[in-house]
Amino acid sequence: MSDGGDLVELAKRRGFFLQSAGAYGGVSGFYTFGPSGAALKQNIEDTWRDRFTIQEGNMEVDAPTVMPEPVFEASGHLDGFDDMLVECPDCGESHRADHIVEDNTDIEEAESIPVAEVEELIAEYELVCPTCGTGLAGQAIEDFNLMFETNIGPGSADPGYLRPETAQGIFIEFPQLAEYARNQLPFGVTQIGRAYRNEISPRKSLLRVREFTQAELELFVDPEEDEPALEAVADVTAPFYPAADQEADEGQPYEATIREVVDEGVVGKPWIAYYLGVAKQWYESIGVDMDRFRFRQHLSGERAHYAADCWDAEAEVDGDWIELGGFAYRSDYDLSKHDSYSDEEFTVFKQYDEPITVERATVDPDMSYLGPEFGGSAGAVADALEALAERDPDAFDGSEVVVEVDGESHAVPVEKTNFGVEEVTESGEHITPHVVEPSLGIDRALYTALDHSYREDEVDGEHRSYLTLPAAVAPTTVGVFPLMDRDGMGEYAREVVDELRGAGLAVTYDDSGAIGRRYRRQDEVGTPFCVTVDYATLGEARDDEGESAAPDTVTVRERDTTAQKRVPVADLPETLTALRDGERTFDDL
Ligand code: GAP
Repeated sequence: MSDGGDLVELAKRRGFFLQSAGAYGGVSGFYTFGPSGAALKQNIEDTWRDRFTIQEGNMEVDAPTVMPEPVFEASGHLDGFDDMLVECPDCGESHRADHIVEDNTDIEEAESIPVAEVEELIAEYELVCPTCGTGLAGQAIEDFNLMFETNIGPGSADPGYLRPETAQGIFIEFPQLAEYARNQLPFGVTQIGRAYRNEISPRKSLLRVREFTQAELELFVDPEEDEPALEAVADVTAPFYPAADQEADEGQPYEATIREVVDEGVVGKPWIAYYLGVAKQWYESIGVDMDRFRFRQHLSGERAHYAADCWDAEAEVDGDWIELGGFAYRSDYDLSKHDSYSDEEFTVFKQYDEPITVERATVDPDMSYLGPEFGGSAGAVADALEALAERDPDAFDGSEVVVEVDGESHAVPVEKTNFGVEEVTESGEHITPHVVEPSLGIDRALYTALDHSYREDEVDGEHRSYLTLPAAVAPTTVGVFPLMDRDGMGEYAREVVDELRGAGLAVTYDDSGAIGRRYRRQDEVGTPFCVTVDYATLGEARDDEGESAAPDTVTVRERDTTAQKRVPVADLPETLTALRDGERTFDDL
């Protein structure tokens, strides 16, 4: 485990990430991934794509990051995507009021507490501005919308927003995506891309930033019929921390299998449980320490405006539990909203096994009566009669039926409506699918994998820091060194590099400084294997231990144990690929 400072220092020195625009003083909440970080991030995204898109048979899309205002009116982000802002009356600095409460009291998840109560807590605990120490009691808390606003084209007639979640880019294309899926539920659509939130106080390095990468899956299901193939993850275990236990005095997370939490109703939606199982395996595969990991259910006041239930994957980092990903049951919230705000239908046609015969109430209003009677409102009265017949046929039982148009009641003789009931055969119905959403933050996953894989020890009397990153995501898979760049060893090593790169491995070549130093450099960026070309490789029995020459073999050194084995050069591409992909272990060599 690192302390946060060591990791941030290593991250900058070794090219993982750094605060961007440093030449201009840096800008809070924006980070640039250096060469090691960009490679690690890409590898993490690739493993996510493999697990959540390819292996699950989902479709991936890539939508714009700027979207027009109506999208966010419909989604609820314009009205409801707010954080609690409190401004210091003295220094003018803005802070997140709920974070000030959490940081200075034993209260957790203050985000779920109503604004008025947070104001009271600030007064009760006499909380002060973290920047200048001035008391904040009595300061009003404002709702601060987190979206970055922009204009689409010149002028301000068409406001747009940088998307605060990638999800909306999927929802708004639902009618077309459903066609690609041949209107067959369930189907899933994934997206990896940037999201933007104008966080009030970005903090903890990559953990709360203003531009970050989300990897999201929107799974569209028929809530009446579709069930996940739970067996695939039924035996996966994890610590679960349900809302009820968080609210209980001595409540603690407890270990259970996915099967158990479904059978016991702890996780109410089997689809959510299924993806918790998938995600647990995925987080483990990228280097998150499972002893510092748990699933926590949202408290009711904490849930986003769209979520009917939500569980977070959380990891312990620097003594705090941070949210790595959210698993929300969004029900039909988003599709219904876009259906009513846009001109398109956000439903799928669900075919019945057998056609069914139903009775349907119909009207055929006599317009020669409605026209003179209701003038310009006649058409609206006719529409209202039609809707009422469908909704409440009993309303036509008397001699007169009353409908409301623009707040005004209109009485119509039933005989003028031509009300009737007919039998129709229906082959199916339009339904609005429900949405299951595993939404993972890549930056937080990356930071956590780095934090959890950071180690320090001593090798040959020298201190070393190293990263135990899994080979599948390490920025570089192999470091190749000549013992020295002379007597043909450099040329030989460079040929090995070409060979390994040709096999698709991420390779770095290093011939500068003592060999021990070169190993340390690779250890620090988490390179799992190093290959050294020495005199024995060249067929010359000149190594220090007096071992017999082993022509065309090299040493392969494993990072964590520093153990070394000799491997024929001809076998290297296959061996190292198998080691990277987890098909062989170093002990097997
Ligand atoms: N579509 C659902 C959604 O956006 P969220 O819980 O707000 O849900 C999902 O975000 C994930 O995105 C979080 O679990 C977190 O990993 C990441 N995330 C959210 N805000 C972030 C921020 N300011 N900085 C870094 N990552 C963030």
